[in-house]
Amino acid sequence: MAAGKPWSEGNVFLSGIQPSGQAHLGNYFGAIRQHLVSQDEAGEHFYFIADLHALTTSRDPEALRENVVDVAVTYLALGLDPERAVLFRQSDVPEVTEIQWLLACVTGMGLLERAHSYKDKLAHGVKPSVGLFTYPILMAADILAYDASVVPVGKDQKQHVEMAQDMAQSFNARYGASVEGGEVFRRPEGRLPAAELFAKVPGVDGEKMSKTYGNTIWIFEEGKKLKKAVGRILTDSREPAEPKDPAGVLLLDFLALFLDEPELADWRERVRAGGPDAPGYGHLKVRLVEAMDAAFGPARERRLELLADRGELEAVLRRGAEVARERASCTLDRAYRAAGIR
Ligand code: TYM
Repeated sequence: MAAGKPWSEGNVFLSGIQPSGQAHLGNYFGAIRQHLVSQDEAGEHFYFIADLHALTTSRDPEALRENVVDVAVTYLALGLDPERAVLFRQSDVPEVTEIQWLLACVTGMGLLERAHSYKDKLAHGVKPSVGLFTYPILMAADILAYDASVVPVGKDQKQHVEMAQDMAQSFNARYGASVEGGEVFRRPEGRLPAAELFAKVPGVDGEKMSKTYGNTIWIFEEGKKLKKAVGRILTDSREPAEPKDPAGVLLLDFLALFLDEPELADWRERVRAGGPDAPGYGHLKVRLVEAMDAAFGPARERRLELLADRGELEAVLRRGAEVARERASCTLDRAYRAAGIR
């Protein structure tokens, strides 16, 4: 136990992904890659499929079920080790929705009204439900239920983690005095990828890659479909020989996700210099497809194997849910008691 605190000293890593479609390059470079790397850091690791959050946009129950399987398989195929990390479905831990209510009662409307993600969805024509509005409270409950200390996410989720900090603080300020140590919920810290490009991966149109904007490339796309997806990356009609500022060539940003620095610098320099030997956009696309094949080829195969054994997959998720529930029910009990319930 940390001195005077109801949680232990070590780090608890936690993050989630919505099963609102197939995981894309933004999910991978902004989040999943960090999750895989952090498995090697000392501490506990919780990763979950945010199916309750997906209900804010889901219309098709069958597709939701499939997407849940898909996110689980994506994690495992890319190397999440269920012996080291707890992988589970958000909805398998009902305690989280109870914690959500406790947090809702200490959260001002103003905090939610300032959420960028909510405002952004409205700006893109999404008709808001109450669930969409209160989405950050459920996310805070996800984080606080497991005493998470590190939350590795992409930039678009940074504000949501800060809101979880605010909610923990409000709850602790109201009820902390009644518990030993003065804190009911542990303060989480967000962790973004160091490079801006990885924290906010662009989509094929140059905006942030997002399922809502329809500009994604699926991690496991392959063959003709992959070529087609890469073919959608925005270019212009300038000739290869024309010298160009590499910062304005979206394809180079995509290549920067995959290539090592010397090779990337070489492509950039050739694009900048122009002339008869300069690569055209077609060359950059061919290299990107190759790089994606190399990066994800082995995981594509593992994905197919995993999909063939749904029983084992379900067993992994159930084992994860058991561990997750145990932790969340301790936190819920602590929070209820602090608030005068139980
Ligand atoms: P979601 O499903 O939208 O995205 C999952 C993760 O992928 C990151 N991400 C990106 N990173 C870089 N560039 C992009 N273009 C990009 N698009 C997505 C997201 O930042 C995220 O880390 N609310 C969350 C799910 C969630 C959660 C949580 C996360 C629910 N509860 C608790 C952390 C902790 C979401 O909708 O992520």
